[in-house]
Amino acid sequence: MTNTPTTLEVPVAEWFDPQSAMRDPYPQFERLRALGPVVNAPVVNRVFLTTHAAVAEAEHRPEIFSSYSETNLTMVRSLGGRPMLRKDDPSHAAERSAINPTLRPRAVTQVWSPRFEANVERWIGHLLEVGPADADLNRDFAAPLASQNLIDLLGFPADVAVEDMRRWSTSYIAGIGNLLDDPEIWRRADQSQAEVNAVLDELLPRLRTEPNESITSHLLQVGLSEEIVRANVQLTISGGMNEPQHMITNLVWALSMHPDQRATVLAGEVNWGDVFEETARWQSPIGMVPREVAIDTEIQGTFLPAGTNVGLLLASANRDTSIFSDADRFDVHRTARGHLAFGSGVHMCAGRWAAKDAIAEHALPRLYERIPGIDLAPDRSPSWDGWVFRGITELPITW
Ligand code: HEM
Repeated sequence: MTNTPTTLEVPVAEWFDPQSAMRDPYPQFERLRALGPVVNAPVVNRVFLTTHAAVAEAEHRPEIFSSYSETNLTMVRSLGGRPMLRKDDPSHAAERSAINPTLRPRAVTQVWSPRFEANVERWIGHLLEVGPADADLNRDFAAPLASQNLIDLLGFPADVAVEDMRRWSTSYIAGIGNLLDDPEIWRRADQSQAEVNAVLDELLPRLRTEPNESITSHLLQVGLSEEIVRANVQLTISGGMNEPQHMITNLVWALSMHPDQRATVLAGEVNWGDVFEETARWQSPIGMVPREVAIDTEIQGTFLPAGTNVGLLLASANRDTSIFSDADRFDVHRTARGHLAFGSGVHMCAGRWAAKDAIAEHALPRLYERIPGIDLAPDRSPSWDGWVFRGITELPITW
């Protein structure tokens, strides 16, 4: 006789409500953590890992907490192929190592920084033209800037419009979250795939003869199949625009909600890099990432059978008070080191240095230099949306 359990026996949060999490997930995350590090949420068919220790442990056991699934296929369906983020090593590593060289800090500074700076100048000009009466920081600055930066990083032709990049990214993200199989969401993702593939039909042959520093070129240079190159370009479109856009608006919103801290930052007493990390911790653009248990295992003293769908609650881990004191408080003076907003382990965000450079070295410092009085518009409210991918969809501002 053995005491080893063979079925899932964990606290159940039958009250977990995705609809109210869309408005504000943090109160429910707190309740989940109070139940324990491993909690079943039947309504989303997932076992959540809620604490920093649980998420970090799963991230560092990727052979057990697998990114490969034969059943959870919304990302593969949305992007029209299986990208590195839905593979395990060694096939994941072959694709990931192709893009690392052009996204490391040195390449970011040498190659991408000057372009990020030029793009910021252009879109601050646009924001000033829209004017303080009806400016929306997301529509008029964050979204087009993040889109243009990504067009450059991917090496897409100059005639690709920022509106197209934004639409592609948004439709892929909607597809990745399309658990209810809404046909209209698939239609938009398919349309985006067709448009991106048409760009790649022209771009890939050119990059074969004239390689450059772009992510697309790096994927080609290591000899990956065209199918894999395309899947990873689509992956980069899905994550490389949406999250940086949200980080820009989250940062301005967080500083506006804490004017005393904003004054300290603008006086140069805290560097923008630390503000970026604290904002990523406090309002994480990616709230949850999925994994599947490959073989029967135990985590944080809890048995999980093979095949369990797991959700790593990055945003909840980032509010864990055993790691971050007074974790619900935005505090630019704390060290947010160790936060999990970019994941951890082998799938840790490939674009984190590019995002940090674009936002903390260029977008935010320049925005406050050129428009020092920037603040939330008192007569128009911001809109937040999402808990798996979470951000501000409209941020009315004035100055
Ligand atoms: C602030 C902005 C960003 C945030 C918060 C963010 C967040 C994340 C997270 C949490 C993951 C891991 C997902 C998982 O483990 O399932 C990830 C992976 C990834 N991100 Fe980002 N990301 C950001 C910006 C970017 C940018 C700008 C790019 C590209 C230029 C990018 C490219 C990628 C890629 C390619 C992966 C997959 C890595 C792999 O599977 O090894 N991200 N990102």
